[in-house]
Amino acid sequence: MISDDVFATVPTLTTERLRLEPLGPEHFEGSWAALQDEESMRLTGTQSTFTEDQIRTWLAGLGDRHDRADWAVIRLEDGTHIGEVVLNDLDGQNESMNLRIALSGDAARGRGYGTEAVRAVLDHGFDTVGLHRISLDVFSFNPAAQRVYEKCGFLVEGRQRHTMNWDGEWVDSILMGILATDPRGV
Ligand SMILES: CC(C)(COP(=O)(O)OP(=O)(O)OC[C@H]1O[C@@H](n2cnc3c(N)ncnc32)[C@H](O)[C@@H]1OP(=O)(O)O)[C@@H](O)C(=O)NCCC(=O)NCCS
Repeated sequence: MISDDVFATVPTLTTERLRLEPLGPEHFEGSWAALQDEESMRLTGTQSTFTEDQIRTWLAGLGDRHDRADWAVIRLEDGTHIGEVVLNDLDGQNESMNLRIALSGDAARGRGYGTEAVRAVLDHGFDTVGLHRISLDVFSFNPAAQRVYEKCGFLVEGRQRHTMNWDGEWVDSILMGILATDPRGV
C-alpha cells in the first residue's frame, strides 16, 4: 500500500547530466515555452490550449498535490529547463502510477536526456517510493518515445485502436508497463 501523501515532499533527483527538481511557479517560463512547441504537443497528443494564468495556477497548486510528483528537467551544463517528467495517477492500493515525459525543443531531444530522466524516475519510483508497477501510453506515431521506454525496461502490454484524432487521422495508443521486478534495461 502506498499512501496518498507519498509525495508530500518531492525530492530533487540528480543524474550525470540532469537535475530533476520539483516543478513549481519558478518554472513558468520553461513550462510556457514548452506549450508553444508544436512537435511536442503533437507527440504528447495535447489538444487543449491554455492561458498563461491557467499555467501559473497549475504550477502554484502542484505543491499541494501530494499524490503525484512533477519534476522540471534541468540540464546541469547550462541550467536550462528542457522539459518535465511526471509520476501521476497513483493507485495506492495496487502500488502503481503512470509516467509521462516531454522535452521541448530540438536541442533537448535525441541526446539521451529522455532516457536519463526516465531511468532516474524509475529508480526513485521503485527503489525509494516502493511502487510495484509504472505504466504509460505512447501514441503509435511516436517510435522514438517507444524506443526510450523499451531501453528503460518497459514492455508493450497492448494496443488501443484510434484513441486520438489528430488533424483528421486516427492514431492508436500503445500501452507499456514495467514492474519493480523487471530488468530496467541496459
Ligand atoms: C520522447 C522523449 C522523452 C525521448 O527523449 P530523448 O532524449 O529525445 O530520447 P533519447 O535521445 O534518450 O533516445 C531516443 C531513442 O529513439 C531512437 N529513435 C529516434 N527516432 C526514432 C524513430 N523514428 N524510430 C525508432 N527509434 C527512434 C533513437 O535512435 C534513440 O535510441 P538509441 O539510443 O537506441 O539510438 C523526447 O524526445 C520528448 O520529450 N519528445 C517530445 C514529447 C514526447 O514525445 N513525449 C513522450 C510522449 S509518450
